[in-house]
Amino acid sequence: MTTDLLEEIHALEADGRRRVEAAAGLDDVRAVETAVLGRKSPLAKVSAAMGGLAAADRRQVGQAMQEARGRLATLLEQRRAAFEAEDRERRIREERLDLTEIMVHPGAASVADRGHLNLVTQTRDELEDTFIAMGFEVAEGPEAETDWYNFEALNMPPAHPARGMWDTLYLKLGEPETILLRTHTSPVQIHLMEAQKPPIYAVVPGRCYRRDTPDARHLPVFHQVEGLVVDHGITFGDLAGTIEAFTTAFFGPDIHSRLRPSYFPFTEPSAEYEVTCPICAGAGCRTCSGSGWIELGGCGMVDPNVFGAVGIDPEEYTGFAFGFGIDRLAQVRQGIEDMRILLDNDLRFLTQF
Ligand code: PHE
Repeated sequence: MTTDLLEEIHALEADGRRRVEAAAGLDDVRAVETAVLGRKSPLAKVSAAMGGLAAADRRQVGQAMQEARGRLATLLEQRRAAFEAEDRERRIREERLDLTEIMVHPGAASVADRGHLNLVTQTRDELEDTFIAMGFEVAEGPEAETDWYNFEALNMPPAHPARGMWDTLYLKLGEPETILLRTHTSPVQIHLMEAQKPPIYAVVPGRCYRRDTPDARHLPVFHQVEGLVVDHGITFGDLAGTIEAFTTAFFGPDIHSRLRPSYFPFTEPSAEYEVTCPICAGAGCRTCSGSGWIELGGCGMVDPNVFGAVGIDPEEYTGFAFGFGIDRLAQVRQGIEDMRILLDNDLRFLTQF
């Protein structure tokens, strides 16, 4: 009797296995599960017959039954998971919507010629590549800032006259004049130094905002790239060398840089960063007002007060920072007379780049 039952369990398991493997979908799996393991299944009948066995035999047959059911249940589970995954993939394929609208500009050779990034974005990407090649990391920061990051930690306490260098757009949030659209990327210097210990070698591209009227050389929404280096023994020579290396890498070997004394509250000493006018190659033209040089931005050695604001010891570390306009850079390099055309979305202009 025991041997008979064991053989029957064996045969029923083999049969069940075949049926599970033959299942063609989730509904089949469910039906087979009931038929093979359910209350009215042949296996359940064998279980009922076990009642008449002696205790030791019952244990043996019971164990065989449990193992057979366990193996069948595992197999059912695997089939179910496989069908569910198939189902999911099919649904994703079927429900996929292509929301891209292909704009073909006039003069395009084919639909594949579907446009490109704006000149400013291309310039930013190229700047990042150049600085990465020089060993810098690329970082980002928020466009809405608190007074602390945009001014105070940068050595401009409330009512400091230097705040007038930036025409600030405040947001109607919290206390009046406490939250603003950043007027430069310099606040990210503070974020960087708060977040990590020196050495820091980072550049930060990003959008900035000023309450400026748009004209040929100004946009109220524009882009800057900030640079920050903090390490042991950084000197003004490192700053000048870095600026010159960047200039020739970015503009080519004929364009050079020069630094002229200037003032920024967060650097000491400070300088203006100028490059050879790429339009006249330094000979003097209308764009450079006959000087042969074009101003791109500011730079200098990080002021000890700025280090103080972020808890870096100015006796141990020194550093330099620079910041210049990306839109301005693109304008100068491409000889674009009026910056506003960068935002006009005029395809005759955009397709040139
Ligand atoms: N943040 C300054 C500006 O927008 C430029 C600058 C950056 C100057 C870093 C010095 C150091 O005019």
